[in-house]
Amino acid sequence: MAAPDGSRNAKTRGSLRLHPDMRSKVTFMSQKTAICIGLLSAACFGCNANPTSGKGFTLPQGDAARGQEVFIEYRCHECHTVSGVEMPELAQVAEKQVRIGGEVTRIQTYGELVTSIINPSHKLASGYRTEDVAVEGESRMTNYNDVMTVSELIDLVAFLQSRYRLKPFEPSEYPLYY
Ligand code: HEC
Repeated sequence: MAAPDGSRNAKTRGSLRLHPDMRSKVTFMSQKTAICIGLLSAACFGCNANPTSGKGFTLPQGDAARGQEVFIEYRCHECHTVSGVEMPELAQVAEKQVRIGGEVTRIQTYGELVTSIINPSHKLASGYRTEDVAVEGESRMTNYNDVMTVSELIDLVAFLQSRYRLKPFEPSEYPLYY
């Protein structure tokens, strides 16, 4: 059956046929719609943040120099060395010292540093044998939660964070494939 205008496009057997120009427009529209839906759902995840998430946590600016004093007062250096900082001698230090600072591929966020201090067993420092840093899954670190002030904690975190340096990204050498 010939279409009134004689074009082949009119011979649609129930399915929608689109002119190639229109087809690309429809694809473009659906891409845009997909992006919009993606953004909207991302925003919605934001508003429905899990009540136990750390989202929205922020610390006021700390004083790194004061943080170093706090570190020494609490004798954190019994168990820690701090990259680039000479600590006063102690009569006794832990058998396994955990290094803080130095070159890393990602600087710890203050959220992670605060967690390391007030809830150390949440995530044990990487790069150590578990038995060296923990006993039955519990960090060997002293608990300071009932003695440390919030200001001390803020300054400590500023000090610790200042001791990390970002390792410059070094691309791997791969042979060229042609
Ligand atoms: C009795 C030993 C001990 C003392 C004292 C101690 N820590 Fe720790 N700390 C550890 C051990 C062991 C770890 C590694 C296991 C872990 O992640 O909890 C650790 C981990 C940390 C980490 C995480 C390091 C990383 O690479 O993830 C930070 C930050 C830290 N301690 C800060 C402190 C500060 C600040 C003080 C003093 C207020 C302190 N520690 C006192 C034993 C100690």
